[in-house]
Amino acid sequence: MEELLERLLEECRPYTTAGKAADYIPELAKKDPSALGVYVIGSEGKHSWAGDCRQPFTLQSMVKPILLLQALLDNGACAIQSKVGVEATGKPFDAINAGERTLDSRHINPMVNMGAIVMCTLIHGSSYEERFQRLMKLTGQLVGDDTITIDQAVYLSEKSHGSKNRALAYLLKSHGILEDDVEEVLDCYFRACSIQVDCRGLAHMGAVLANRGRLPDSNRRIFPAPLARYVNAILMTCGMYDGSGEFAIRVGIPAKSGVSGGIMAVVPTRMGIGIYSPALDQKGNSVAGIRLLEKLSQELYLSIF
Ligand code: DON
Repeated sequence: MEELLERLLEECRPYTTAGKAADYIPELAKKDPSALGVYVIGSEGKHSWAGDCRQPFTLQSMVKPILLLQALLDNGACAIQSKVGVEATGKPFDAINAGERTLDSRHINPMVNMGAIVMCTLIHGSSYEERFQRLMKLTGQLVGDDTITIDQAVYLSEKSHGSKNRALAYLLKSHGILEDDVEEVLDCYFRACSIQVDCRGLAHMGAVLANRGRLPDSNRRIFPAPLARYVNAILMTCGMYDGSGEFAIRVGIPAKSGVSGGIMAVVPTRMGIGIYSPALDQKGNSVAGIRLLEKLSQELYLSIF
């Protein structure tokens, strides 16, 4: 496996120059666009890796499946779907999924910003601090590291340049889909996006989802299997935003990207994959990262279709 990962990594390295690191969160633009790393954790617990797989980066949108999972654990699927739908929007991650006078919650999903912001309001806790700490605990279990922290520079950078997310949140509030204090909700969202991980952590999270809620090393269950099916299904249809259909054809596995350049991928029953390469395409997905996943999928017959 290691040899294969090394070879594919070298084949994909040229694609790191075909994209651009995100700069609408200024701190993300400081990342080295030539970085490329991959980490795989098999369901039986075997670890394999290549490249810059231990470089730290922030979860960004890859926290969205964790927000969804925590909201599902706290409320169940019915309560969530009364607030946020499950259909693909076919639009960019930060799109205004609303008409002039209408905002139908069925037209957003938990993988786009509007849906993820609502997920923050569904996490149980007597304060936003408590909600966030519960989210951190679940994140620690998913990424296999209970010492995870927030990248303060990225958090402050996003918070001070978050006008679009503020607009989306106030729009949700004006339509009665979000009831809490917008700044408090967004602070939770921005902090969640700024949790620092590496490819190993993403691979671990992918492996837990692949094992339908069981940890890859101990087999201990951390959430019920039906929730893994729920999250994996939404990752498949919405995880790569308006690139999800093409990704399903080229790679064919549930995955979630983030504007930091990470991709967390799930091969049900077989493995979790973590990728990092900060140069993004127009849709906010890692160019070399998708290429690497495509090649890996072809070599190992990973597509579920
Ligand atoms: O809210 C934002 O814009 C970012 N914190 C996360 C967006 C993101 O990662 C989109 N992914 N490709």
